Amino acid sequence: MQAEIVARLIRAHEQSQKYVSGSELARELDVTRSAVWKHIEAIRQDGVKIAAVSRLGYRLSEPDDVLHAGAVDPSTALIGTTYHYLKEIDSTNLEGRRRAKEGCPNGLVILADKQIQGRARMGRQWFSPAGTGIYFSTVLFPENLPTARAALLVPLTAVAVHSALADMGVQADLKWPNDLLYDGRKLGGILLEISGEADQVRSAVLGVGINVNLMGQDLPEELRDVVISLMEIKNQRMGRRQLLHSMLASLDTFYADFQAGSRDFIEEYRRLCWTLGRSIRFEQEGKIYEGTAETIEDDGGLSVRLQCGKMMTIRSGDVHCL
Ligand code: BTN
Repeated sequence: MQAEIVARLIRAHEQSQKYVSGSELARELDVTRSAVWKHIEAIRQDGVKIAAVSRLGYRLSEPDDVLHAGAVDPSTALIGTTYHYLKEIDSTNLEGRRRAKEGCPNGLVILADKQIQGRARMGRQWFSPAGTGIYFSTVLFPENLPTARAALLVPLTAVAVHSALADMGVQADLKWPNDLLYDGRKLGGILLEISGEADQVRSAVLGVGINVNLMGQDLPEELRDVVISLMEIKNQRMGRRQLLHSMLASLDTFYADFQAGSRDFIEEYRRLCWTLGRSIRFEQEGKIYEGTAETIEDDGGLSVRLQCGKMMTIRSGDVHCL
């Protein structure tokens, strides 16, 4: 019922209808006006801002920023066809893993307005305050994906997110393996967690975090010079709904092609990868190496020409650009 009310308020916004009255909602949804009011309160509790004016009715205060279930209809074939909005969660990736274990629908998207324990790679945290970012995970049960190829889902997602950002006029840099940068600062990141047999993936949880309306002063001191948000890039508050729609739509297309055997996204990733051609330093098994990042292998690994001239391919860890 709540999703229906939000969907109705979104429709009103799109049709330039300013307010929807309580009695209109009650009639359309076949409930009493007081039931409508209770649902409106519950939707507000979920973090959606709804303005109410007596005799006029209800309207969404920030319709372009609403990520509640009723507001998100990505018209995709798989990703997001089941969509769960949560006001708050430990981490959408952790929730995705729990749901994968229970056997949730393929393509389920879990989005939270706030994460208490947002996770990043290498045991780091993803700063995820309410109302300022897009934090979502999709749970996939890929057909026939060897574990050795699972990491490809990261560049695939990076290319998909890059394309959604480009649609809104933001050209992000893709730093291998999972960073979206702008001006050398972190705009977003991707976290892939898989489970399955030794040689075959059963489920993959793909998490995406984008800093949208985050300001320097919201950030802990140590993140201020390292993190950037779309609001800082565009100099204005940005609605999150359209960007979420575009990310889900482009992820859906890239993933469908991937499942159909296409690997075209790797070429696209090579073209966009900011790391290639740069001097880098990285650590592997306790040893520090330096070299030049030369190419992305077909399995997503980064091939580096070391200072001694030898080639080395790395498949995990961080690289630092020198
Ligand atoms: C990284 O940069 O190392 C990856 C960051 C990924 C953050 C996203 S936010 C949504 C999803 N849930 C999480 O706990 N993490 C990912």
